[in-house]
Amino acid sequence: MVSLFKFAFFLFFYGFIANSAASRVIELSDRFLDIHKEGQWLVMMYAPWCAHCKRLDPVWAHVAQHLYATSIKVGRADCTRFTAIAHNFKIRGYPTILFLKGEQYYEYNGDRTKDEIVNFALRLNGPPVQEITKTHSFHTLKKDRDLYFLYVGDRSGLLWDLYHSTAHAFHPHAFFYQSHPVIVDKHAPVESTPVIFVYKENVHYNFTGHNSSEFNYINKTLHNWVNAERFSTFPKVTHGNIHQLYMTNKNLVLAVIEENAVENIASDMLEFREMVESIIRKKRDKYHQHFQFGWIANNDLANSIAMAQVSLPSLIVINTSTNHHYIPDDEPGKLTSDAIEIFLEHIRNDTAPKYGGKSILVKIYRMWFETKSTLYSMWNGNPVLTVILFGLPLLFLSLICWGTFCPDILDAGDDEEEEDTNNSHMKED
Ligand SMILES: *[C@@H]1O[C@H](CO)[C@@H](O)[C@H](O)[C@H]1NC(C)=O
Ligand SMILES: *[C@@H]1O[C@H](CO)[C@@H](O)[C@H](O)[C@H]1NC(C)=O
Ligand SMILES: *[C@@H]1O[C@H](CO)[C@@H](O)[C@H](O)[C@H]1NC(C)=O
Ligand SMILES: *[C@@H]1O[C@H](CO)[C@@H](O)[C@H](O)[C@H]1NC(C)=O
Ligand SMILES: *[C@@H]1O[C@H](CO)[C@@H](O)[C@H](O)[C@H]1NC(C)=O
Repeated sequence: MVSLFKFAFFLFFYGFIANSAASRVIELSDRFLDIHKEGQWLVMMYAPWCAHCKRLDPVWAHVAQHLYATSIKVGRADCTRFTAIAHNFKIRGYPTILFLKGEQYYEYNGDRTKDEIVNFALRLNGPPVQEITKTHSFHTLKKDRDLYFLYVGDRSGLLWDLYHSTAHAFHPHAFFYQSHPVIVDKHAPVESTPVIFVYKENVHYNFTGHNSSEFNYINKTLHNWVNAERFSTFPKVTHGNIHQLYMTNKNLVLAVIEENAVENIASDMLEFREMVESIIRKKRDKYHQHFQFGWIANNDLANSIAMAQVSLPSLIVINTSTNHHYIPDDEPGKLTSDAIEIFLEHIRNDTAPKYGGKSILVKIYRMWFETKSTLYSMWNGNPVLTVILFGLPLLFLSLICWGTFCPDILDAGDDEEEEDTNNSHMKED
């Protein structure tokens, strides 16, 4: 009753009805702090001046539309006006997407696309492991979910406990289900129970790491297995998900190609991508354990990994535990799948030339490269502003240095605000 009253109060004073007529997104104010623990909220924290937020706006409207029929309320809060919200949730960058559920809140770090954000909310909406009680639910499940984990067996025992705790740890990142052999029926190849599957690209693969009875051993193998299996066989790699892919501790094998603004790909690029994809599709058993394949359509991302201008199309392999990267010697356009396989073997036996890494020198070089690229793209975007931003301070600085003895003050960072918050997100992942 009390909560109903509060809710009505909120409606009345902060008029979100007017807003939701045009879009399903609820415009929130400081009053949100009184009610955010009631129900489940998906909230975008934004600032009016932030360009990334503006780009997210249409996506956010779609997300709200999509989740309208669920119990999740979708809102957004202008953190420059309602600073108490920003303060309460310790917002450090814009946009920040949060899922709120009672006392808990989860920050979204993936790709800012409708499907990814909706899936994030739907996962957190339910318990970490959802039970499937009807055979025909599997039809819907296979249709709606590209990837999910499934435990078949009773909700008791060591494997169940570990499955549940792993599901809890990966709740924002994957869908986890549980069912019984009779219900699963022909949908998954159950031979004995308990068994854990991952479903992707129409196939159920089982977990085979529980041939031991040692708790820590199974926990570790299950944890690592879920962590590595939660990606599709050949995902599109972006700024949003690459940090998650780095956690797999596998080698990332990335086809770098060019995609235009409306996501069209030229036929030679497409051919190259298909050739790389065919390797993992045909020889999954051989490569799956040590290599995660994928493709990038983002030149900036590829350049910043290679710390150089990469040609298109090309292939780049990253050892995610050491941060080394490998680039084949052959001209990328002439690469064949056989040549790539030999290249991958050289990487495995440590005879391929490697670049980058985690040393201090590489880090400095990387910083210099990033600064250079940022400046270059700022210059391309708006030369006048760039000159004003960097030219004027430099002019003053040189005037000061002219007259006085000049100490080492030239290395002060002068990054753009938005850039800065982005980077801090990336580093912390
Ligand atoms: C898991 O898969 C392997 C290979 O497909 C199979 O030999 C094994 O029996 C399966 N285990 C279970 C418990 O289904
Ligand atoms: C379980 O099986 C894997 C591969 O089949 C093997 O490497 C591992 O040593 C086995 N673990 C135990 C504890 O038997
Ligand atoms: C299982 O392993 C993960 C990762 O190594 C760890 O974070 C977690 O605490 C472990 N769980 C249990 C119940 O020991
Ligand atoms: C990454 O490099 C390290 C050191 O060379 C090596 O031990 C590790 O196996 C490599 N990772 C993969 C997935 O091959
Ligand atoms: C590494 O693998 C390549 C390709 O299979 C092979 O030609 C080479 O002899 C191997 N090197 C070592 C040191 O095993």
